[in-house]
Amino acid sequence: MALWGGRFEGGVDAFTQEFGASLEVDKNMAQQDIRGSIAHATMLAEQGVISDEDRAAIVEGLTQIATQIEAGDFVWDINDEDVHMAIERTLTERIGVAGARLHTGRSRNDQVATDIRLLAKDLCDELLEGNHELRRVLANVAERNLDVVMPGYTHLQHAQPVLFSHHMLAYFWMLTRDATRLEAARAAANANPLGSAALAGTTYPLNRERTTELLGFDHAIPNSLDAVSDRDYLLDLEYACAVSMMHLSRLCEEIVLWSSSEFGFITLSDSYSTGSSIMPQKKNPDFAELTRGKCGRVYGDLMALLTTCKSLPLAYNKDLQECKEGPLDAAHTLGDCMAIMAGMLDTMKVNDDVMLAQAGTGFSAATDVADYLAKRGMPFREAHAVVGHLVLECEKRGCGLEDLTLEELRQASDLFEEDIVGELDPAGIARARTTYGGTGNDAVAAQLAEARATL
Ligand code: ARG
Repeated sequence: MALWGGRFEGGVDAFTQEFGASLEVDKNMAQQDIRGSIAHATMLAEQGVISDEDRAAIVEGLTQIATQIEAGDFVWDINDEDVHMAIERTLTERIGVAGARLHTGRSRNDQVATDIRLLAKDLCDELLEGNHELRRVLANVAERNLDVVMPGYTHLQHAQPVLFSHHMLAYFWMLTRDATRLEAARAAANANPLGSAALAGTTYPLNRERTTELLGFDHAIPNSLDAVSDRDYLLDLEYACAVSMMHLSRLCEEIVLWSSSEFGFITLSDSYSTGSSIMPQKKNPDFAELTRGKCGRVYGDLMALLTTCKSLPLAYNKDLQECKEGPLDAAHTLGDCMAIMAGMLDTMKVNDDVMLAQAGTGFSAATDVADYLAKRGMPFREAHAVVGHLVLECEKRGCGLEDLTLEELRQASDLFEEDIVGELDPAGIARARTTYGGTGNDAVAAQLAEARATL
């Protein structure tokens, strides 16, 4: 009989019972459930609601169950509806009446909310570690390649040369913002619903400040109805995961492009590549593609929970049982993807010569040639037009700006002198962008130091 079976004469069939159960996904928060129960029992005994012997038996029994679950020795019974029932039933079978007193002044509604909040905090902590590690790798890759010049793009067309390290650090800052979002999600989860009971609080003299302290929450939630029905913090977590996955998908897209023979900017290590079952020559960037692809399911997780919570009347509704799988999936997916990306970036080979050669093509010096004229007195808009015509001329001839003679340049403007040659070197062009946050070598070195300081 279910733990709530007292008022029932009939039962549900096996399929219906399975449909209503959440045991499988709940197993992910078994340790959190036990932490919550130990805190509840400790507080009940301190308040004189249960005896100290009962508390001791409960704590010992739960600790044993926690160890068994951790070791994979705990026998789960599929007839238990959820993790709360499974653990309470097992505890009571083992320690008798003390176990049956554990649920005094508590409902599964505040219990599950407590468990999920503890789980959400743990997930955020793990993700923050993974985020930190990936940012550390990005900073290392930037440092190892400080002077490597690559084409910078807008519209995926050559724009201006940039440093490869600058490009890597752009992702560093995206991930730094992701960490801020994860911290915010953690803060949102960090409030204690325990003591709200089913929806209205209880008649027992519970000390909610005490369980708040025992469980390491920041404060007790001030409204019991809100406490049992709020899942906003899971949305915050999923949103944080979704944005971070979006960032990873952008980086993956570049890795896929860069490892193609058309680009050849990087060579992925064999340990992060796969072959083809039919084409012997293939070396595919599968793991970058897979990470890019997994972004979709994390977006889906966020949308699913938003939809589940929509229009729910207060307070607890069984719909909320559906709220756990998505955040777990989102967090595990992001965690795995960050770990894969860290390994992939750390082991890839940067083909600096290919990048530099490409950086000099596509008229990426055009802005600097226009600036050259503007700095010698020509209004910038006019200089833009002069260089635009030179580019057009070069395109017709199939050459680059660097192939024009000084005479040809002087036909376009007599402001051109010998020193224009220096304006056409991609490394020099990048170096000259000395503004704070720009791609100049000194600016990027300073940026790297600033990035390191956040780690
Ligand atoms: N398995 C439920 C869940 O995950 C626990 C809370 C059930 N409460 C209830 N009144 N049915 O949401």
